[in-house]
Amino acid sequence: MTEPDIDTVAAKLRHQLAEQLAATGWLRSPAWRAAVEAVPRHEFVPRFYVETDAPGLTTWVPVTPELVGLDKWLRQAYADETLITQFDGCEIDWADPQPISNAHPTSSSTLPTLVVRMLEDLQVEDDMTVMELGTGTGYSTALMCHRLGADRVLSVETDPEVASRARDALTSCGYRPRLRVGDGLLGADGSAPSDRTIATMGVRSIPAAWVRQTRPGGLIVATLRGWMRSLGLVRLTVEDEHTAHGRFLSSDPSFMIARQQDAPESLGMLPSSDEGTTRHTRYGPELLTKPDSGFVAQLALPHARSFSMPGDDGTMSTYVLDARNDAFAVLTPDGEGWSVRQGGPVLLWDAVEQALALWHAAGPAEFGLTVTPDAQRVWLGAPGGPSWRLPA
Ligand SMILES: C[S@@+](CC[C@H](N)C(=O)[O-])C[C@H]1O[C@@H](n2cnc3c(N)ncnc32)[C@H](O)[C@@H]1O
Repeated sequence: MTEPDIDTVAAKLRHQLAEQLAATGWLRSPAWRAAVEAVPRHEFVPRFYVETDAPGLTTWVPVTPELVGLDKWLRQAYADETLITQFDGCEIDWADPQPISNAHPTSSSTLPTLVVRMLEDLQVEDDMTVMELGTGTGYSTALMCHRLGADRVLSVETDPEVASRARDALTSCGYRPRLRVGDGLLGADGSAPSDRTIATMGVRSIPAAWVRQTRPGGLIVATLRGWMRSLGLVRLTVEDEHTAHGRFLSSDPSFMIARQQDAPESLGMLPSSDEGTTRHTRYGPELLTKPDSGFVAQLALPHARSFSMPGDDGTMSTYVLDARNDAFAVLTPDGEGWSVRQGGPVLLWDAVEQALALWHAAGPAEFGLTVTPDAQRVWLGAPGGPSWRLPA
């Protein structure tokens, strides 16, 4: 394929991607559609990894024009897929790229369905300014530059190498937004408050800087997450420089967590088998992974992590450990259901069961979030309803 061919084929693939995104219902407005049809995603992902669908350990394989051919690489670049460009905060060795397992993606070009969904949720208007946290490859930044004009877009990336590649790709496509290298949890000090703020990394709670740096009446669209799972997508209206409130739009979307908020590496000491008290529970560990109950469990246990491990007799147990203290819950099958052994300053599984009881009693109700200078609380139904505090 020659250079002009690439442009022709890429334009066709962009059109197909736009059709596909429109068919899902997430791409709705003509202005965002025009951006998807115009911005060459392949310029932002010259080489990347994609997840294989082989069973077993999650594995990613490299995709570059040299490895798979120009045509296949281009098609992958316009697939509705997340394209991973970094693992574990380390640069990839592109001289000899190998399949990768046992690693955590730390930068990517996000799934286009999710990108356009969040951009639509942002409800921008022509003359608005946007602050983006998590530049990544720069693709979503470029979409915003196309939609609003680069002088209305400010984007912050924590990783200098990632930021530098994004800057190069944006420049070569003719976009010159304001780009900062730094911790986006601190926003972008010194710039005027934006009309809209969007985060393409997950956060454990909404950083105070984002509220302060979004104008009153402006919107923040972000994904919240804990160390067990995502809490999904939330849209907040900023009331004043310290206060914001809004509802969860969905509990599905998940982003890689902001680097500064990752779980501590060490799990600490595992509880020994004679610690704690044991009782029967009707809920097994699957509740942690189911969409709705998992969301509620994550709210009830904001500092917890969970993992499964076989015991001496081969029986698989699920451990839930609080990173702040020695609280633990260990779930083990007990024939008719599950038994839970708990100990430490907080009874973690009791907290999960209480949260589930409140959720069941409330019936179908949406979750929302209120941010004040004192606390951030996720509430059920209405701000005065049952609520859970997010980590500060
Ligand atoms: C999912 S990627 C962003 C995808 C991007 N919007 C795109 O379209 O390519 C998340 C990015 O957030 C960055 N990130 C993580 N923590 C950050 C922080 N505290 N401040 C700014 N960027 C951060 C990561 O380095 C990564 O590049």
